[in-house]
Amino acid sequence: MTSLISIRGLRKTYRMGDENVHALAGVDLDFAAGEFVAILGPSGSGKSTLMHILGFMDTPSEGSIVFEGEEVARLGADRRAWYRSNRVGFVFQSFNLLPRLTVLENVALPLLYRERPDAEAAAAAARVALERVGMSHRLDHRPGQLSGGERQRVAIARAIVGSPAIIFADEPTGNLDVRNVDLVLDLLGSLIQEGITVVLVTHDLSVAERARRVITMRAGLVQEDRQR
Ligand SMILES: Nc1ncnc2c1ncn2[C@@H]1O[C@H](COP(=O)(O)OP(=O)(O)O)[C@@H](O)[C@H]1O
Ligand SMILES: [Mg+2]
Repeated sequence: MTSLISIRGLRKTYRMGDENVHALAGVDLDFAAGEFVAILGPSGSGKSTLMHILGFMDTPSEGSIVFEGEEVARLGADRRAWYRSNRVGFVFQSFNLLPRLTVLENVALPLLYRERPDAEAAAAAARVALERVGMSHRLDHRPGQLSGGERQRVAIARAIVGSPAIIFADEPTGNLDVRNVDLVLDLLGSLIQEGITVVLVTHDLSVAERARRVITMRAGLVQEDRQR
């Protein structure tokens, strides 16, 4: 099977005063297209650091990342921005929607950061993505007028609007009640059928067990990697 992402010897070291913090201490992983992967591990084990680097929001200190055949670990800011807006989607625990924009505007926004943006095409794509997550009836609401579960569905629409190859969801259910946890996990799981790879970070074993493959991290390393 060819890998969507192939990671070798990935390290991220933060200098804190006189001390080095090894947030990632040498990670090797492969993700295939269409996989549903959960990353489990205690707080501080490096899960978010890994997501931010793979999501092109941060760069590693050492190591290699081959993404769709291209070495991307040390790309410049422009190329990283291109990957962020064209190949990956991100879902955060705290939703990160812009409060002054409507639901439709929030979801269309990533497309407006692309080269030669087309506002009408962006709005049309945003409507399709919002339909996909069952939020078509709230296009003109502001995030503050939605429940937590609804906000996370809008955030998932924003993550898929650009047709990414992979979605990184960092503790996406951390702020949700039980019913919405199920809804959001069902929605993320259903993206697999469309060929999107989903990497879900959680510290909750019951959430992780929704995925076919569970990777456990500890102290910046992969401790266990099992298919269920
Ligand atoms: N910007 C930063 N500066 C210094 N240390 C950091 C920074 N980001 C994360 N760390 C440290 O790196 C380790 C891993 O953090 P993180 O990836 O956020 O873990 P997790 O998401 O698993 O809770 C922790 O010890 C954390 O304190
Ligand atoms: Mg984290």
